[in-house]
Amino acid sequence: MAHGGILLLILTFVGISHGQLQVGFYANTCPDAEAIVTGVVRDAVASDQTIAPALLRLHFHDCFVQGCEGSILIDNGREADEKHAFEHQGVRGFDVIDIAKSQLESACPGVVSCADIVALAARDAIVLAKGPSYGVETGRRDGTVSDTKMADNMPDVSDSIQKLKQKFSEKGLTEKDLVILSAAHTIGTTACFFMTSRLYTFSGGVGSDPSINPEFFPELKSRCPLNGDVNVRLPMDRDSGQTFDNQILKNIRGGFAVLQSDASLYQDEVTQSIVDSYFESSRPSSGPSFEADFVDSIVKLGRVGVLTGSEGRIRAVCKSF
Ligand code: HEM
Repeated sequence: MAHGGILLLILTFVGISHGQLQVGFYANTCPDAEAIVTGVVRDAVASDQTIAPALLRLHFHDCFVQGCEGSILIDNGREADEKHAFEHQGVRGFDVIDIAKSQLESACPGVVSCADIVALAARDAIVLAKGPSYGVETGRRDGTVSDTKMADNMPDVSDSIQKLKQKFSEKGLTEKDLVILSAAHTIGTTACFFMTSRLYTFSGGVGSDPSINPEFFPELKSRCPLNGDVNVRLPMDRDSGQTFDNQILKNIRGGFAVLQSDASLYQDEVTQSIVDSYFESSRPSSGPSFEADFVDSIVKLGRVGVLTGSEGRIRAVCKSF
C-alpha cells in the first residue's frame, strides 16, 4: 500500500513535470536537438546576417498569436493561413526553421516541436548578434489551427502606449516586459513603410512626430523620402543595428527611436522610468542589467499560451498540419 502510494506520487510528479516546459526537455529523447538547431542557425546567419533579427522577430510573432505553438509557420498555400496576415508583414526566417526541422526529423523523428525550434533559433540568433545566452525552456507542442484573423490583435507601430501595455498585459506580460522586449529592436531593420507616417503625415495627416530629435530628422528624411520607395530598409537602432546591446534604450531616451512604438515608451511615466533605470546608477555594475532582464522577459514570452503534455501535436513538417 505504502509502495503503491509512493509509486502514485512519483507518477504524478513525472506527469506534472512532463506537462510543463523545462530547460533540456529533449536531453534524453533527442540529445542533439539544440546543437542541430544551433548549427542550422549559425550557417544561415553566416550566409545572411539579416536572418538573426528575423528569427528573433519570428519568435515574438509566433508567441503573440495563439501562444508559442508554431501557428505562424503554417503555409498550406491558402491566403487564409495566419502567416499571410497583414500584421505579420515582413516576418521571415521560415526556411531556416524548415531546414532545422528536416534535420531533426532525420535524427529523431516526431520528437521536436516546431514551436520549440522557433524558440531555440531565437536564442541562437541573439547569441550570434553578441547578446546574452540563456537556457531555453522546451517541451512546447504544435498548434492545430491557423487563420489570418488570429493575428488581428498583434501590437502595431501606431498603437498608443496604453494600447501596447494592454496587449502585453493580455499575454501576462508587464510594462517592464514591454520595454525590455521592445528593445529587441536593438538588432534588425524596418522598411520605410512602417515609419514614414512619423515624418510626413503624423498629426491629422500633416506634419511630423515631435518626439523625433531635430538632429535625427534630416537623416530619416533622406533615408525615407516623401513618396520614395517604402521597401527601403533602415536600422531600428541607429549606429548599432547589428549588435545586441542597450544602445536602443539610449536612442529611445534621446529621441532617436525609429519606430513610433519604441518612441512611445518614453512618453509614459512608468515606461520612461523603466528605460531610465538602466542609466541612472552612478556605478553601472550596481544598476539593473539590460541583458539579465532581457533574458527574464524573453523566457516569459516563451511561456505565453504554450501547449504541453498531450495537448497539440508534433508536426512532421512545420508548414503543414
Ligand atoms: C511592442 C510592439 C512591437 C511593434 C509594434 C513592433 C513592430 C515592428 C516593426 C514594424 C518592425 C519592422 C518590420 C519590417 O519592416 O520588416 C519590427 C522589426 C523587428 N521586431 Fe518588432 N515590434 C514590436 C515588438 C517586438 C518584440 C517584442 C520583439 C522580440 C522580442 C521584436 C523583434 C523585432 C526584430 C528583431 C525586428 C527586426 C526584423 C528584421 O530585421 O527582419 N519586436 N518590429
